[in-house]
Amino acid sequence: MRSRLLITGATAGIGLAMARRRAAGADLLLTGRQEHAAVRDRLPPGAAYVAADQSSPEAAAGAVRGALDRLGWDRLDLAVLNAGAGHALDPATESAQSIRVTLDVNLAAAIALAQTLLPFLENASGKLVLVGSTAHRGAPGFASYAASKAGLDGLARALREEWRGRVAVQIVHPGPTATGMHEKAGHDPGPIGRMFARPETTAARIEAAIASGRSPVTIPFARYAAADSLTTWMKR
Ligand SMILES: NC(=O)c1ccc[n+]([C@@H]2O[C@H](COP(=O)([O-])OP(=O)(O)OC[C@H]3O[C@@H](n4cnc5c(N)ncnc54)[C@H](OP(=O)(O)O)[C@@H]3O)[C@@H](O)[C@H]2O)c1
Repeated sequence: MRSRLLITGATAGIGLAMARRRAAGADLLLTGRQEHAAVRDRLPPGAAYVAADQSSPEAAAGAVRGALDRLGWDRLDLAVLNAGAGHALDPATESAQSIRVTLDVNLAAAIALAQTLLPFLENASGKLVLVGSTAHRGAPGFASYAASKAGLDGLARALREEWRGRVAVQIVHPGPTATGMHEKAGHDPGPIGRMFARPETTAARIEAAIASGRSPVTIPFARYAAADSLTTWMKR
């Protein structure tokens, strides 16, 4: 039986790289905030897709539930909750609305999705993987984002204990990766951005972390960023 996977935030960056890695060997349900027509061309052929804007956490979980029902899936082998966003703003002046959206997209939606997905994952003795960030330990200019990822770390630690023997839960904290997230956040990393890992490298590291079964896993930035920089330099 082919395994069945859900990857959220799979229209770009790390999530898209993970979807492309998995496409040949599994049935995929992917999510993003845009409508299917806007993203169809970049998704792996044959992957199912549902628009699920996580700034409305319960609605997003409901959309995913509806998609699972339409597909006739009653089990999920792996759910990777990867969708995320942030805003580079001064924590002294960031608006309540901006703080709420970051916490909703990155944290409240993960809680709502975890609740919704539990019976599907249980049916497969499956695995729930949360994509955090090394920023959970604090990141200048990204206070709300850091707080949301610290919350996600706490959620993973709690669910790993709560659901032990039912569903395996892991959190993986990637380091800086060269995706569109920084531009969307209004953040210019400057020259150090050239050191960021490629999304394919981070996706491969997340896969290795999933296979290890360990949690939490922090992906060491320096080691793989240096390897990526060398590859880019050699291709010049
Ligand atoms: N890039 C980094 O340096 C870095 C480092 C550590 C951790 N991470 C984490 O890795 C994950 C993936 O990030 P990425 O770098 O691949 O970013 P990305 O390229 O911007 O991709 C993020 C994905 O999440 C989706 N998304 C954003 N807001 C959403 C919303 N409101 N509802 C539903 N989906 C939404 C995006 O959709 P759209 O295409 O519509 O925006 C996209 O599919 C995130 O959780 C991020 O926090 C990233």
